[in-house]
Amino acid sequence: MYDYADIEQYRYRPTTTTTTTTAAISMCFLLFIPPPAKYGGRHTVTLIPGDGIGPELLNHVREVFRFSCVPVDFEVVHVNSALETDDDMNNAITAIRRNGVALKGNIETKHTLPASVKSRNNVLRTSLDLYANVMHCQSLPGVQTRHKNIDIMIIRENTEGEYSSLEHESVSGVVESLKIITRNNSLRIAEYAFQLARDKGRRRVTAVHKANIMKLGDGLFLQCCKEVASGYPDITFDSMIVDNTTMQLVSKPQQFDVMVMPNLYGNVVSNVCAGLVGGPGLVPGANYGRDYAVFETATRNTGKSIAGRNIANPTALLLASCMMLDHLELNDHATSIRNAVLTTMNETRLHTADIGGQGTTLEVVQSIMRIIQSKGQLTSEF
Ligand SMILES: *[C@@H]1O[C@H](CO)[C@@H](O)[C@H](O)[C@H]1NC(C)=O
Ligand SMILES: *[C@@H]1O[C@H](CO)[C@@H](O)[C@H](O)[C@H]1NC(C)=O
Ligand SMILES: *[C@@H]1O[C@H](CO)[C@@H](O)[C@H](O)[C@H]1NC(C)=O
Repeated sequence: MYDYADIEQYRYRPTTTTTTTTAAISMCFLLFIPPPAKYGGRHTVTLIPGDGIGPELLNHVREVFRFSCVPVDFEVVHVNSALETDDDMNNAITAIRRNGVALKGNIETKHTLPASVKSRNNVLRTSLDLYANVMHCQSLPGVQTRHKNIDIMIIRENTEGEYSSLEHESVSGVVESLKIITRNNSLRIAEYAFQLARDKGRRRVTAVHKANIMKLGDGLFLQCCKEVASGYPDITFDSMIVDNTTMQLVSKPQQFDVMVMPNLYGNVVSNVCAGLVGGPGLVPGANYGRDYAVFETATRNTGKSIAGRNIANPTALLLASCMMLDHLELNDHATSIRNAVLTTMNETRLHTADIGGQGTTLEVVQSIMRIIQSKGQLTSEF
């Protein structure tokens, strides 16, 4: 149940000003802040093991970091998804506010809990205002897939849209679910996408929407993308309806460069893209806000059925940890670990079951450490 006063602040009001581009540009300096301060040359990062394969894979990440002498200390915060109280979650959020950066496994959302219990992952993203979810979907040469040469960056709006958790059963058997789209948030997500495109030397940004049906909501999102695009004449802007997008993705994914979209389409499209390049075990994801950043796998599943069996693919979380190292400006460490992970994935012999092999998690991790060592990087004991 929600209070209508809560949504009043979000209500769409047609704007009469024409100063949008300036507004968008003046927001720009807020979009990227330097990484948090470090103490004694070391960073502290919040580590949330999560459920399923999260804890074991994050142990491997810690082992690779230790082996590579990465100057990061982890503050481990457990969130018990079986409890209905918010205490664990509040501790985790406080820890991230303090450290600025987190690495996490996925926290299970029990569908059997009452509707009032929100997804913990979602609470974390909204509480920390992590408005941009970024996923880089790239074909790996050693992994067999139907399509080759995919290189797509997906920017997913991460805090509003269909994920407002504003649902209401007005009379028995009739449910309203509110999708929230605000002008300010749409401008900053579009700005984020174009800025990232420019920084990464990308050529094209495609906005994904359903404005033919959701004329006001998606219409506003699309309009904001267009306004921001006018400030980036060096980058081609186009838009595509979400249903055509999914069809185009599975038939000719190479046509896409950077994509920006509202929350739920982002969920669907990022899962399609992960599938295209080999599955959830391979693709990292990051959630960025103005003040905090949280790194995890791109697709938000816990892998419960394969937990504790030494068969999960550690690639996605290791690559997520590399995105985190880049965020902390530990770029040499990021590059060294990333290259070792990618080289290992080039070897069919080491592939885990999710990509058709028989390799174990431990074999993959040991190969990664051997490659790091063979490149002459400073390492500690095996
Ligand atoms: C949108 O942003 C503008 C400029 O930053 C601000 O003045 C305004 O209050 C914001 N609107 C809402 C609804 O938050
Ligand atoms: C779908 O996208 C393709 C590729 O951009 C485009 O050529 C086609 O016209 C689109 N179809 C529809 C129905 O929008
Ligand atoms: C993976 O293999 C391909 C070709 O087989 C090669 O071009 C590429 O450089 C390799 N990548 C890594 C990281 O070893």
